[in-house]
Amino acid sequence: MYEQVLQNLCTLVQYRPEDAEVLKRVYPVTSTWADEFVQNFYDVLFGYEPTARIFQPNERPAREQTLREWYLRLVKGDVDESFWRGQWRVGLVHIYRRVTNDFMIAMMSCLQQEFLRKCMDTWPSAEAAEVFLAFKRTTDVVSGLIAEGYMRGYQQAMKELLGFRIGLLERLIDMESKSLVERLEHLTVK
Ligand code: HEM
Repeated sequence: MYEQVLQNLCTLVQYRPEDAEVLKRVYPVTSTWADEFVQNFYDVLFGYEPTARIFQPNERPAREQTLREWYLRLVKGDVDESFWRGQWRVGLVHIYRRVTNDFMIAMMSCLQQEFLRKCMDTWPSAEAAEVFLAFKRTTDVVSGLIAEGYMRGYQQAMKELLGFRIGLLERLIDMESKSLVERLEHLTVK
């Protein structure tokens, strides 16, 4: 399941192994951005009540450290099988910490925007684009793995807890989601 999702993402995002080489080359520069990115990331999350309430008191230093390590490994181009598998795991951890994918995707977008600004301030436009696109493709595959890890983990847990077969669960969810769409259409002003 995880392998198929990884393959789908890498193919459709057009991730290529050379992206890791590009990131590795500029690591001496991008690694110096880590503290600023991590600080901004958690300033945003702690400054917004729906995300601030996810955290335990005193949890911020540990969360900052985890994000710093994640960022540094990624920009070092240390992107191998264990790195990708770790992103799937993040999705599972996010389930029980109630970190839904709207939060995750929004924060990945913030990070990508800040990374782009830094690239444009640092390199001529062709190189800035090359570095940014390598970062963008890699982090888009990460977002996809976290989101799908979350969704599949959620389904798996429901299946195991409720004793459904996954095929039956999927058919029931298909029916229920169709009815949700119909209800939404009644509400939509045409
Ligand atoms: C760019 C998006 C994000 C990335 C790359 C990311 C990355 C990670 C990583 C690497 C872990 C550690 C997972 C493990 O133990 O294997 C983690 C856990 C966690 N993340 Fe995220 N995260 C993101 C977004 C968020 C957001 C938006 C929130 C809160 C609103 C959040 C809150 C947490 C929490 C509470 C944990 C659990 C820590 C624990 O209990 O061990 N994350 N995340």
